[in-house]
Amino acid sequence: MDLFLRALHILAAAVWVGGIAFLGLVAAPVLRRELPPAQRIVLLSKVGRRFDPIGWGALVVLAITGIAQILRTGVPLNLLFSTSYGALLLTKLGLVALIVLATAVHSYVWGPRLEALAAQAESLEATRLRRRMAALSGTNLLAALIVFVLGVYLAHG
Ligand code: HEM
Repeated sequence: MDLFLRALHILAAAVWVGGIAFLGLVAAPVLRRELPPAQRIVLLSKVGRRFDPIGWGALVVLAITGIAQILRTGVPLNLLFSTSYGALLLTKLGLVALIVLATAVHSYVWGPRLEALAAQAESLEATRLRRRMAALSGTNLLAALIVFVLGVYLAHG
């Protein structure tokens, strides 16, 4: 990959994966231990909202530098469907699309719904929603790691 595009792609991947790993593996567990649910929901929503433009910004940079790389190599599009490189790339892009969808549901549908329930944070509805959001975040992180490994394999495998 062209050096500049590759450096930007890797930097954006580091910011994005590092950011969601930090949120899920560091911030959320500490807040879970230290704060009652109502305060935790408010604080995690603020932290999540602060990360939102950084995460989406990194994803946009990943998409632009990734697509630019595909265009620069001048690979005929039909090869995407008939080579193992193409199959891996399409798998990676499919996973990225699912991650984008899951992130949007987490941030714009379930997140605001949970925030609205902060006053009844111990209710069954809020507890269920919290568990669902935690499970989705974990799955997203796993998918992001798979995308990362697929990227490295595409470039060096
Ligand atoms: C629309 C989104 C994306 C596109 C089109 C794309 C495309 C690509 C392409 C074409 C390569 C180079 C393969 C080669 O050199 O043959 C690559 C490498 C890579 N991608 Fe992506 N990618 C995207 C999103 C992501 C995301 C979300 C991540 C982070 C998890 C990621 C992580 C990587 C990594 C780590 C490499 C290896 C870079 C290297 O070692 O040089 N990519 N990607």
